[in-house]
Amino acid sequence: MESFDGTITTSYASDDDDDDLESVTTYSSTVPDYAELGLVDPFDVNEPAMTAANSSKNDSSGFQSTPLLIEDRILNTNATCPGIGYGTGGEGRSTLDELYRAFMVAINAGFRSFDSAPFYQDGAVERILGRAINDSSVPRSEFFITTKVWPTFARVPEESLKLSLKNMNLDYVDCLLLHWPIPLVPVEGDPYALGDTWDSGWDFKMTWNEMQKIPKDKARAIGVCNFTINRLRLLLSSSTTTIVPAVLQVEGHPELPQKPLMRFCKEHNIQPFCFSPLAQGQVMNPTILRIARKHGIDSGQVAISWAVIRGTVPLPKSVNPNRISGNINLVELDEDDLAQLDTLSEVPRRIVNPRALFGHDIFENNADSYETTTYKSEDAHVSRAMPRKRRQFAVGST
Ligand SMILES: NC(=O)c1ccc[n+]([C@@H]2O[C@H](COP(=O)([O-])OP(=O)(O)OC[C@H]3O[C@@H](n4cnc5c(N)ncnc54)[C@H](OP(=O)(O)O)[C@@H]3O)[C@@H](O)[C@H]2O)c1
Repeated sequence: MESFDGTITTSYASDDDDDDLESVTTYSSTVPDYAELGLVDPFDVNEPAMTAANSSKNDSSGFQSTPLLIEDRILNTNATCPGIGYGTGGEGRSTLDELYRAFMVAINAGFRSFDSAPFYQDGAVERILGRAINDSSVPRSEFFITTKVWPTFARVPEESLKLSLKNMNLDYVDCLLLHWPIPLVPVEGDPYALGDTWDSGWDFKMTWNEMQKIPKDKARAIGVCNFTINRLRLLLSSSTTTIVPAVLQVEGHPELPQKPLMRFCKEHNIQPFCFSPLAQGQVMNPTILRIARKHGIDSGQVAISWAVIRGTVPLPKSVNPNRISGNINLVELDEDDLAQLDTLSEVPRRIVNPRALFGHDIFENNADSYETTTYKSEDAHVSRAMPRKRRQFAVGST
């Protein structure tokens, strides 16, 4: 079974269609015994969201946390974007009804940036997001809406944007991202196909060239996802590149800080957005839990606070109203907290696994440091990489 965007939640071995995938690494972590550690279970969703203001821990321990001011970020287009966004992905994990309610809760909680993609339930998530935006009383100009171009649209990114705008019933997006740095041959009847034939006559530099031509009143900023430093270097040095990506969206959480990549972005004025900032709900490390207890917040809030403090834009996803509001009510972390969180990446852990999507380790053996790795010419790679996998969609009445 797959969740989305390459995350492997259980082995593929029992899935008839996916025999080739038995060797795919499963990324899982051990759930600690919270009671034994003297910690609160972070997944008790019945608990109201804790904030620096209402935390009882602050009172009982005498330690007072400071609410974190989430400042807007300035992109290299001179546009501003909120310092935190709401992630709308998560195929197969939420019904569309749940998502609509969650989007409305998120808007009421103060989220203004929403990250989506046509890949998420074949455009259905975009449609629900557009409905929530249009149903809300918040003017369109206050939102920062991001969507993406799936690799099957690598030759025609503007066509992809047109479909997304239609799905969302919007006139423009604030940011359009290339979802993955590979081109795929389109598949008849399955516009957002997974892992089929790589398009040997095309590459991400050519897609970027097409994205640069998209009118600015349709996509106010453009950027890329899942690029390594090597690929960013290739993109920036391409003779056809005239626009530096405004945004790089990559996986980022305390166990995968991707520091060299973040430094590269800073040097080139590219704003990092981090997906899976809660390691898809697996932020249950005892170190994080101890910091959470100290501040009287949940472990997810620790991870998101850390992401904001280091200057990235985290994109947490939740359909739980308490968590949604907690995820935007964050605290200042002190140097001791940050030093402890720093130790968690000694053995980096990546959650989203592109081999499951494209039959290739696009992140070069899951290394957290890309500075010493050499680029392998995947652009020229042609493979019938793997059988196309069944995608499981949540079905909601909306
Ligand atoms: N560009 C890409 O290739 C790419 C890849 C992956 C993701 N993304 C984007 O990034 C977004 C977020 O990533 P993600 O959905 O993979 O994972 P995530 O945000 O790291 O984790 C979501 C999971 O964490 C749980 N959760 C939410 N708040 C929590 C908290 N405070 N404490 C503990 N657990 C909490 C949620 O459960 P509840 O709903 O029950 O709260 C959900 O199961 C996606 O929705 C998508 O927009 C982009």
